Amino acid sequence: MKELLARPGFLGTAASLGGDLSQLMAMVFTGLFIIGWVQARKGLGNAHHWLVLGGMVTMLAFFTSYYLFRQLGVLAFEGRTGFGGSDFMYYQVFIPLLTFHITLVIVGLIMAVYMIILGFRTQRFMGGQRELRPGVLRVSRDTLMKIFGISAAVLLLLYAVVGTRLGSDFSFRRLIVYLSGVLVIGFVLTVEKGLERLWPDGERRHRILGRFTMVIYCILFLTGTGTYTLLYILYPGKIG
Ligand code: HEM
Repeated sequence: MKELLARPGFLGTAASLGGDLSQLMAMVFTGLFIIGWVQARKGLGNAHHWLVLGGMVTMLAFFTSYYLFRQLGVLAFEGRTGFGGSDFMYYQVFIPLLTFHITLVIVGLIMAVYMIILGFRTQRFMGGQRELRPGVLRVSRDTLMKIFGISAAVLLLLYAVVGTRLGSDFSFRRLIVYLSGVLVIGFVLTVEKGLERLWPDGERRHRILGRFTMVIYCILFLTGTGTYTLLYILYPGKIG
């Protein structure tokens, strides 16, 4: 699979098949989310639900497996030689753009999961059509602690199971990655309490944070396309 993804791409640039495929999929998913947004604005709750839910789950599956195959951080290993432009373009334009893009990827991933859960918690059915239920929507502190405890236990179990399968790899570095996952969950649950205070009404919260998430995905597409253009069209280096 790795060899297949490393073959020349189909867009006629310096990118590999993997690079072109990921750019094409980013376009497809962004298009789907924008259509899902338009449907929500038209009050078509069911269509919005299926499109956004299906799109987000497929997108998470695609990019996770893609980066596992391609090995995350290919650029980090290649470093400066992976980029064919000047030092100025690399340090002042490319690296800031890539850093901004990766930061948005992290925010986008967290928001996708958060919004899907919020969608299920806020929806109600009226005559077979999904709509958002107005009114205060809060999680009790007890439930939050339970969610945190269960997620932390699942992640640590995963650390143990994957470590055993990797031939007893219980390295400190791997543990740090899983503990960061626990920290992110704790952080998101804490932020949720703050968001509840800011927008106690679940319907309003879904609309405001939903628009924020949609805008993040649009900017993600633009910064991703910018990175692709710099790396594979304007200043191709060693990376395909
Ligand atoms: C990443 C996931 C999601 C995002 C980004 C998102 C975004 C949005 C946005 C922006 C709106 C308001 C549109 C507007 O007024 O501008 C909205 C409305 C709505 N969302 Fe979501 N949503 C997501 C997931 C879901 C899920 C999973 C469900 C159902 C389980 C859902 C159910 C609804 C419903 C019923 C509405 C109201 C439509 C109406 O106005 O009648 N959403 N969503």
